[in-house]
Amino acid sequence: MTTTDKVSPTAAGSGASATETFRANQQHGAPEGVSAERVGTVVRAVLDSVHEAIRAHRVTYPEFQAAKKWLIEVGEGGEWPLFLDVFVEHVVEQVAAETQQGSKGSILGPYYLPGQQRLPSVAALPARPDEKGAPLVFAGQVRDIDGRPIAGAELDIWHADAQGYYSGFAPGIPEGNLRGVVVADDQGRFEISTVQPAPYQIPTDGPTGRLIETAGWHPWRPAHLHLIVRAPGYRPVTTQLYFEGGEWLDSDVANATKPELVLSPKAQPDGRLRSEYDFVLDRT
Ligand code: DHB
Ligand code: FE
Repeated sequence: MTTTDKVSPTAAGSGASATETFRANQQHGAPEGVSAERVGTVVRAVLDSVHEAIRAHRVTYPEFQAAKKWLIEVGEGGEWPLFLDVFVEHVVEQVAAETQQGSKGSILGPYYLPGQQRLPSVAALPARPDEKGAPLVFAGQVRDIDGRPIAGAELDIWHADAQGYYSGFAPGIPEGNLRGVVVADDQGRFEISTVQPAPYQIPTDGPTGRLIETAGWHPWRPAHLHLIVRAPGYRPVTTQLYFEGGEWLDSDVANATKPELVLSPKAQPDGRLRSEYDFVLDRT
């Protein structure tokens, strides 16, 4: 961290850390599951689409050079994970989901950090003593597609704080804050206490933010919880859960909402919000 510790989701902070995290989580050597033949086929198709857009819109030399300059800046600013996860990942997820029957998935996004603290089935996510945000209880059960509970399923959960910032990426938030791996009980049940996150804004001061502003789009994602639900012998589900009535739910910049993924939290007698959600995993 630098001495200019301003608490904002700066591109230099969140975007670039997302690149470092992505790199750290990739295996070394040739990427697995990517054949030379597919590279030829898919890259050809992408280039054909680019050429078609240039023809259709009579793209000029100044526009072509501006595009090159912007692409260089996205790389230099470390914003490729951020940009690709916002504008491309949802379609990769849709294609992957075509062969899956269980709970609906959504994009992983750039802010997942593996190896978080393991927590019992009834647990509170690590939070600051003065963590802001409405207290939220998120509970449910993990089952297989025949309705049988999956004992010991893991719920790897992470979310933004009440200002929309993620620990490990925005400055000034303790490591592991609002992140954890909750282990369900022998009935696949879990009950997670946390706070309600705020909507997330794409950092506005980097090349992705500038593109969004120049294009006249908005940089917001609705408030969401991220989860990867997994158990040995089952296909993991990477998903996100949103909140009924939440701002930006109908215009997510990342196009990653689905009607099945919207929670309807209810106020409990103790004042906390509570939401139930069950997960269904496919067998591998
Ligand atoms: C991005 C951020 C998120 O929190 C998310 O869930 C998906 C994408 C992004 O900035 O790319
Ligand atoms: Fe997110």
